[in-house]
Amino acid sequence: MEHTSVYNTADAALTLQEWLQHKDYSRIAVLVDEQTRKHCYPLIQTALPKHTLVAIKSGEEQKNMGTCQVIWQKLTEGQFDRNSLVINLGGGVIGDMGGFCAATYKRGIDFIQLPTTLLSQVDASVGGKLGVDFEGFKNHIGVFREPAAVIVATQFLQTLSMRELRSGFAEIIKHCLIADAQMWEKIRKRDLDQQKWDELVPHSIKIKQRVVEQDPTEKGWRKVLNFGHTIGHAIESYFLAQPKRKLLHGEAIAAGMIAEGYLSVQRNLLPEKQLHTIEEFIYSVYGKATITNEDMEAIAPLALQDKKNQKGKIRCVLLEAVGQPLVDQEISLRDIKEALQFYQGAV
Ligand SMILES: NC(=O)c1ccc[n+]([C@@H]2O[C@H](COP(=O)([O-])OP(=O)(O)OC[C@H]3O[C@@H](n4cnc5c(N)ncnc54)[C@H](O)[C@@H]3O)[C@@H](O)[C@H]2O)c1
Ligand SMILES: [Zn+2]
Repeated sequence: MEHTSVYNTADAALTLQEWLQHKDYSRIAVLVDEQTRKHCYPLIQTALPKHTLVAIKSGEEQKNMGTCQVIWQKLTEGQFDRNSLVINLGGGVIGDMGGFCAATYKRGIDFIQLPTTLLSQVDASVGGKLGVDFEGFKNHIGVFREPAAVIVATQFLQTLSMRELRSGFAEIIKHCLIADAQMWEKIRKRDLDQQKWDELVPHSIKIKQRVVEQDPTEKGWRKVLNFGHTIGHAIESYFLAQPKRKLLHGEAIAAGMIAEGYLSVQRNLLPEKQLHTIEEFIYSVYGKATITNEDMEAIAPLALQDKKNQKGKIRCVLLEAVGQPLVDQEISLRDIKEALQFYQGAV
């Protein structure tokens, strides 16, 4: 598959300006939410030629067909033709939805991802997956399509809340655990506020790119990116249904990585000592979410819903060692419950 250019830059405005100099778009739209309009748009505004600002409300609740309709409407009203560009300035919600709208508008116009959260920089902007949620199902409607460019600038992270930053960090931890034991040794010795984003973000992107290139449509090896996500997603959906117990994606995945690390040790794959380093670091950064026995009973079956399952079997990624993942490892509901018990400290 053709490789999209990812520009790691200290100055998003300058990179964008240079990139646009070589192009001749008839219309340009910039998609923002109210947060990125306030914190990020001022950083690139002057670098942009004449454009239409399309602002939507922030939040996962907005990632749906209704909002797409508003976006398509704005493009239509602005007489955007096939030779137009959409610049997605925001987190994963803006990137996934803005990309989907661009990919389907008049059978597809160019779009640029300008990710502004840590999660979208190291995860959502790479891999070409676009889409929106539908009737309670996450990312249910969507397409694969590569952006014309991805411009990654850690300067945007300065206004991000500590909690959002920490949530995105879980994907960096994941990338190290599945692909780079050396980097894992480095990050686990630093606190969250000592992490070097300028080094870690491009590093994480490279890992994801390498995996995606080998398996662009997720038939096999790309599943390694799912480490921590089989049990993590189940925890996330369970908490999502409980209004008072909010857990961000990365917080759930952090718990999922401990649980799936535990199952790796149970199968005599991962050395116990390595699990201890994972546990120690993740608890130190994320603390421990309270999951009661009753919660565990409800969480385990939710893992059956995972889009990546086949024929009703639950499969997950286990580790043979830090940096050495194994895909398609079958696990049972009982395994999940036991792993959650381990996470809570009962095993
Ligand atoms: N396409 C993929 O491969 C992929 C991968 C992972 C996640 N995702 C998707 O990404 C979404 C989650 O992404 P997210 O965590 O970035 O969520 P998000 O886009 O909702 O952003 C989180 C919050 O941060 C705010 N924000 C964004 N940038 C900011 C900045 N620089 N300063 C201050 N506030 C800022 C946003 O307004 C929002 O309130 C989910 O919908 C998920 O499905 C997609
Ligand atoms: Zn994730």
